[in-house]
Amino acid sequence: MRVLGITGSPRRGGNTDLLLAEVLKGAASRGAEVKTIVLNDLDITPCQHCDACQKKGVCRIKDDMRMGYRQLEQADRLVLASPIHFMAVTAQMKAMIDRCQALWARKYVLKMPPLGDRRERKGLFVSVGGRKVADMFEPALAVVKALFRVLDITYVGALTYPGIDEKGAIAKHPDALKQAFLVGQKLVE
Ligand SMILES: Cc1cc2nc3c(=O)[nH]c(=O)nc-3n(C[C@H](O)[C@H](O)[C@H](O)COP(=O)(O)O)c2cc1C
Repeated sequence: MRVLGITGSPRRGGNTDLLLAEVLKGAASRGAEVKTIVLNDLDITPCQHCDACQKKGVCRIKDDMRMGYRQLEQADRLVLASPIHFMAVTAQMKAMIDRCQALWARKYVLKMPPLGDRRERKGLFVSVGGRKVADMFEPALAVVKALFRVLDITYVGALTYPGIDEKGAIAKHPDALKQAFLVGQKLVE
């Protein structure tokens, strides 16, 4: 069981990273192989809408997304983790998601499985935001669910924490990190 965690936060060791690390620890404690991709460290050009991917389902841009596609194909579980930036996932995360247009083309234009095979895949969303607003995560969730739908990944839920702003504030939350660990365990059961 391979679990891929992708963080879209630019803040290393920030709230999103702490939560994602716990989810992955939980998964690893159940024997899963885990890997983390830090989008902020990568060179991922935004989609240029050239439609080249509609020929073979392969993006023509040569950057770190080549590795990203490979990792997505190999994962049985995907954990997308992003703080809320202006009501949405971060620009780093959105650039990666938009580059999945090549996988959209595989599925809807070329009638191929978007991730190369038809194994069961499951996906989770992890997020934090500074404001204390109940529906703050909805726009980001809509984007993440759209991606999962295109990639034939079953959405299994979200761990979202409003009112978390300072770097490391999530560690002071009464049970967020514990919840994240347990959700990671459940994700691979
Ligand atoms: C550019 C930017 C935009 C932000 N926009 C929002 C927002 O729309 N809503 C919100 O609740 N918090 C917003 N925040 C606050 C972050 O979501 C918050 O600080 C979060 O804890 C950062 O998580 P991290 O430590 O994982 O990066 C924004 C922060 C930045 C830097």
